[in-house]
Amino acid sequence: MTEHAVQLTAVRRRYAAKGAAEAGVTALDDVTLALPRGSFTAVMGPSGSGKSTLLQCAAGLDRPDSGSVRIGGTELTGLSERRLTLLRRERIGFVFQAFNLLPALTAEQNVALPLRLAGRRPSKARVREVLRQVGLAERGRHRPGELSGGQQQRIALARALITRPEVLFGDEPTGALDTTTGREVLALLRGMVDGDGRTVVMVTHDPVAASYADRVVFLVDGRVHGELVGADAETVAARMAGLEGHGRTGEAGTARAALDAGTGGRHDDAPARPHAGRAGGGGAGRGAQAAQAAQGAQAAQSAQAAQGPQAAQGLAASEGASC
Ligand SMILES: Nc1ncnc2c1ncn2[C@@H]1O[C@H](COP(=O)(O)OP(=O)(O)O)[C@@H](O)[C@H]1O
Ligand SMILES: [Mg+2]
Repeated sequence: MTEHAVQLTAVRRRYAAKGAAEAGVTALDDVTLALPRGSFTAVMGPSGSGKSTLLQCAAGLDRPDSGSVRIGGTELTGLSERRLTLLRRERIGFVFQAFNLLPALTAEQNVALPLRLAGRRPSKARVREVLRQVGLAERGRHRPGELSGGQQQRIALARALITRPEVLFGDEPTGALDTTTGREVLALLRGMVDGDGRTVVMVTHDPVAASYADRVVFLVDGRVHGELVGADAETVAARMAGLEGHGRTGEAGTARAALDAGTGGRHDDAPARPHAGRAGGGGAGRGAQAAQAAQGAQAAQSAQAAQGPQAAQGLAASEGASC
């Protein structure tokens, strides 16, 4: 039996209505998807179609209401919070549109953080190695504020890579970057798949970004709505245009326009919306803040030990108030 890097089977995730006047939302509706090891998959779809929810369920940041999620041979549903946290730490990398670097830490310290969180002592050589991989060997001592957006995202990539994760997830990782730096990050992601056999799953609005992937999976209203394999940007854009009107709010036209204008489809979608934790849903929160908040207190402690109180403050701030 082939063991997929990521396997979702009949995954459902529903958000309950918050008040009588509101309807609940089925964010994922019977999603089944298997991603082979060493593949690069893009997930596209109109805004609100469930892309972020899909990524977060697949990465163990959110729990589906039903269905199965497997990373490698491990079934995630039913894992305790503790085991899920360990699995995320050791086997999964996550990159967000908003970088989420800790402003008070240098690039090197940001990159080393996941190892510190795991109670491991990061070797200088390993930190330098991943910084070199993302082309920033010379910038290790800089703080995020001293780096460009593209450089910051490459630091975030290095941070995601330091634990040698089996799967790297990106929620619009190029969404905040200009076309050129976005392409650099995409080329790096491609290289991780081709060179290192890593598995990459990336949400994007940008048909050009999607064309770096082996396969593009389309979501509409929480359901898989077809896919393309080995498609170029034109083909992807045409398919997105075809989805126009299907979604809760059509965004396909924007993708098309972005391609025509050569802007790379910059959008300010995903992480801007702060997600409330799921009522009674335990510690597995959603979204960028929640992702890190899960490790928040511990991270702040580590940072404090390593860097003094200022860093810990920076960490707490960048992890949001939700922890
Ligand atoms: N925490 C939440 N509470 C309630 N509804 C949510 C929450 N997160 C997402 N949703 C809803 O679920 C649907 C899918 O959201 P999301 O996965 O963020 O879509 P996408 O990333 O494709 O824009 C949307 O209708 C969204 O409003
Ligand atoms: Mg999103």
